[in-house]
Amino acid sequence: MKLAVIGGDGTGPEVVAEGLKVLKAVAEKEGFEYTTTDFDVSGDRYLARGGDPEKPSIEVISDEEIAELRSYDAIYLGAVGHPDVAPGILEKGLLLKTRFDLDQYINLRPVTLYPGVPCPLVGKGPEDIDFVVVRENTEDLYFGGGGFLRKNTPHEVATQEMIATRFGVDRCLRYAFELTRQRKAAGQKGQLTLVAKTNVLTFAHNLWDRAFNAVGEADYPDIQRDYNHVDACCMWFVKNPEFYDVIVTPNMFGDIITDLGAMIQGGMGVAAGGNINPEGVSMFEPIGGSAPKYTGKNVINPIAAIASLAMLLRETGRRLDDTKIAAAGQRVEKAIKATTPKMKTQSAGRMGYSTTEVGDLVCEAL
Ligand code: IPM
Ligand code: MG
Repeated sequence: MKLAVIGGDGTGPEVVAEGLKVLKAVAEKEGFEYTTTDFDVSGDRYLARGGDPEKPSIEVISDEEIAELRSYDAIYLGAVGHPDVAPGILEKGLLLKTRFDLDQYINLRPVTLYPGVPCPLVGKGPEDIDFVVVRENTEDLYFGGGGFLRKNTPHEVATQEMIATRFGVDRCLRYAFELTRQRKAAGQKGQLTLVAKTNVLTFAHNLWDRAFNAVGEADYPDIQRDYNHVDACCMWFVKNPEFYDVIVTPNMFGDIITDLGAMIQGGMGVAAGGNINPEGVSMFEPIGGSAPKYTGKNVINPIAAIASLAMLLRETGRRLDDTKIAAAGQRVEKAIKATTPKMKTQSAGRMGYSTTEVGDLVCEAL
């Protein structure tokens, strides 16, 4: 397995180092070979090369680097975000560019409450919080369309466009239906919920709704279809999270509800994600930020990064048709579940262990 590693900003490199420690241990156990190549792409590099901290100037990641990334089996990313660089520059220049250029059209975000992890919802446990959000990752409000008219005048107009293409929506829906079917085979409900806002976004989300029912009716009669408006979904996340199995949702709402999802699963320290191109190169990342104030302190929780590694192994095992790599993914996931009950909390500096100690605990559990 050929792995590209982008530690990125802030605490990104620290948590990725723990993931790589776990990778080394699990590769020995399962008996597969791999290589890692570091890509020095970060806010620090952008600034060091003379990038303007206020507005996008030079490339954060170049087209040549993106082209090189295409030759890897997967990308393992730490975090993006630098306190001295204005919001948006690194996010657009690295994260969004990579997602779009490599056509990683699925953002897969499991919401799993691991055993022993404190949950802010009273009376809810690991058996109640175990669902997956399939977020469309290349369209919607994220494609970047829009503009200004009469900028910086009292008559300024700003537009921000939302798109939904039948092609983009269909491929995302099919991925979600397939995933729901796989989970059903493993004993889950077999229920797919579309989360959108069909009562207000009567064009784009009407397309989503029609496509959802058409694809489901034609090819997935075994999957129970359900629909929630996004605002109601936020309410159910808190009130009845056990209601969900798989959620499929457009990009913007997926961004928002997965932060709420991360909180009900115990915080950003445990929330993992994958930017997936099922036919191409995928990129796995903890969904939290770069946590600049904790950088270098060895206190941040690496579980999210390690859980992202588990996703990376499962997805890459599938993609390369390599059972050892896929088994390694399951094994890491199990080791995480054996580790979280030993930790006091999942919050930086209050876990009862350092970042590196948590990585060691997962390795022992393997
Ligand atoms: C995420 C983040 C990104 C997004 C930002 C950093 C551009 O919030 O991965 O959820 O909006 O997708
Ligand atoms: Mg987000």
